Amino acid sequence: MSVAPEEFTRTMARVPGPVVVVTTVDRTGRRWGFTASSFSSLSIAPPLVLVCLGKSASTHAAFASADYFMINVLAEGQADIARRFACSGADRFAAGDTLPMELGLPGVPDAAARVACSMDRVVDGGDHSVLIGRVEAAFAGEDAPLVYCDRSFQRPEALEVAR
Ligand SMILES: Cc1cc2nc3c(=O)[nH]c(=O)nc-3n(C[C@H](O)[C@H](O)[C@H](O)COP(=O)(O)O)c2cc1C
Repeated sequence: MSVAPEEFTRTMARVPGPVVVVTTVDRTGRRWGFTASSFSSLSIAPPLVLVCLGKSASTHAAFASADYFMINVLAEGQADIARRFACSGADRFAAGDTLPMELGLPGVPDAAARVACSMDRVVDGGDHSVLIGRVEAAFAGEDAPLVYCDRSFQRPEALEVAR
């Protein structure tokens, strides 16, 4: 017996997460990207991070075979970019949100942080693949990060300091 899908997703929606846009460029020069909240650091030595991508996503084949990818941690004012990179069927790069940055990968200027990775491993995770990246370059910005919780975008300022 396992938890009902609705109960599982409702429960996990209560867990705050970062909002990132993951990008790569394939061998033909085509750019790919998707919005994710399943981003986490994994290891310090070696420096590894992970992000999970649904196997049915239109971007899955491109990322599963990518040699490099970029994690853009969006800042509090960048929810529009998150919506664009989650939108099906549209050219997510048409609005010009990204520029070539670390390792030449598409980066979001003024992101809260950026982490440029080489692909370490792609691990099976049920209906998702876990993309494990070795961090080759990192940038920490000044702006507060955007947060996703209870199925909505939130600003960290809305949270009170815990006692
Ligand atoms: C805030 C937010 C977080 C998301 N997190 C993930 C995620 O961690 N993994 C994932 O595969 N898709 C995630 N998605 C959905 C993808 O951005 C995208 O919509 C999905 O891959 C379907 O895209 P497709 O049209 O390319 O198939 C998230 C969407 C939003 C708005």
